[in-house]
Amino acid sequence: MNSLGMRPRGKFIVFEGIDGSGKSTQIKMIAKRIQDLNLKVYPTFEPTAGPIGSLIRQMLSGKIKTDQRTLASLFAADRMDHLVNEVDGIQKKVDGGELVICDRYYFSSYAYHAQYMDMEWVIHANSLNAEILRPDLTVFIDVEPEKCFERIKNNRSDFEMYEKIDIMKNVRINYLKAFEHFKNLEKIAVIDGNNSMEQVADALFHEVMKTINPG
Ligand code: TMP
Repeated sequence: MNSLGMRPRGKFIVFEGIDGSGKSTQIKMIAKRIQDLNLKVYPTFEPTAGPIGSLIRQMLSGKIKTDQRTLASLFAADRMDHLVNEVDGIQKKVDGGELVICDRYYFSSYAYHAQYMDMEWVIHANSLNAEILRPDLTVFIDVEPEKCFERIKNNRSDFEMYEKIDIMKNVRINYLKAFEHFKNLEKIAVIDGNNSMEQVADALFHEVMKTINPG
């Protein structure tokens, strides 16, 4: 509690990366490391496990046919629900003092959907989300697309919509374009993800701790 008897605002940290970048594994590792410091973390992800996220998953797997514009719009709607729903909305958690770590947020939309439509459209479609909550930090785990694609091939036999090498290369380029576009507005850290898992974990931990404990 602060001197006014109010709980200080928490933090919202987002992890981004192309498919196969090792982001989800790194989030698990970092959440454990933060919990070991006796700090509470709420890890979450997009697309969510809610009704809109489940529909998106069926589209990504090819079970339900869709159009890229519909999919991009659904991601923006899933994100709004993720932010404001009354049960476990991120906004309330952060306002209530929690540290929320999210696997993907609006930079994923900018990077993936700008392959099919103007990035400005995607930014506009997500503008209400951005008004509600901008991350305190977005970390991008930057791994060579070829390396990511190898990892995916070695782990699975069926692929989702965007798990193709050309798409993964485009998505990486779009991420870098979006980071350049927002460099004065957003706090972004690009981490070289081509190093060993432990080296990447240390670099990520360092960035995240700077945001949790500034100064
Ligand atoms: P995941 O592999 O991290 O679970 O994400 C599922 C896929 O959804 C991945 O290929 C990235 C894609 N995606 C978008 O296309 N737009 C978005 O806004 C988000 C959050 C994910």
